[in-house]
Amino acid sequence: MSMESKTMLQALGPDIWIADGPPIEFYKIPFQTRMTVIRLENGDLFLHSPIRYSQQLAAELEALGRIRHLVSPNWIHYAYIAEWADAYPDATAWASPKVRERARSQGVEVQFDRDLEDSAPRDWAADLEQMIVHGSRAHTEVVFFHKRSKVLVLTDLIENMPARTLPLWVRPLAWAAGILAPNGKMPIDIWFSFAGNRDKLRKALTRMLAWNPETVVLAHGDILRENAPQRLREGFRNLPPCGHGH
Ligand SMILES: [Fe+2]
Repeated sequence: MSMESKTMLQALGPDIWIADGPPIEFYKIPFQTRMTVIRLENGDLFLHSPIRYSQQLAAELEALGRIRHLVSPNWIHYAYIAEWADAYPDATAWASPKVRERARSQGVEVQFDRDLEDSAPRDWAADLEQMIVHGSRAHTEVVFFHKRSKVLVLTDLIENMPARTLPLWVRPLAWAAGILAPNGKMPIDIWFSFAGNRDKLRKALTRMLAWNPETVVLAHGDILRENAPQRLREGFRNLPPCGHGH
């Protein structure tokens, strides 16, 4: 047996890492979980969609910086924030739109300290661009762009799951939803929830493309590493971006 245990954090670029966690069930379907960690210029760590707390992961993070921000990027991503907040009471737990109501409806107690808004707070404005993607009746997500690494961090807006990570019975459903790698896209139910408001989605896509991302991290499935702008447009179901800047 090796003396070293496997590290949980994988570097993705300068000051940015991912950690893949155990699957979580959502409507009986096991979803792989992924956290993205960004070290801000001041040494603080930004934990996007934290995965399950473990001492090993906490130790690896502490070696990188100070665990400061626990970020729920959308209404269905909050499961492990309370565990991290318990372990790091000085960290700030950030709420996404409607996440408080959702957690409460599921009987999950999370003390959120602050709310994510349509632009980056002073805490990380030097490091990250931030935007709320508006226009869906069902799914409002906050997206982030790490300027130093040129990584765009999405959560559920695009999913790109390799078939081998899914139980057999889920694969046809995943195919029908449009989320099978390597051609994963916005899940069809989220896409329909933007009906009548696609101009807002188009605006958001245009802004994301203007950030010039080189890599797109997703919470579920394979990261988009090549031709990121093209994959991003395909991920948004070939919605044409705005012809002029906004
Ligand atoms: Fe998700």
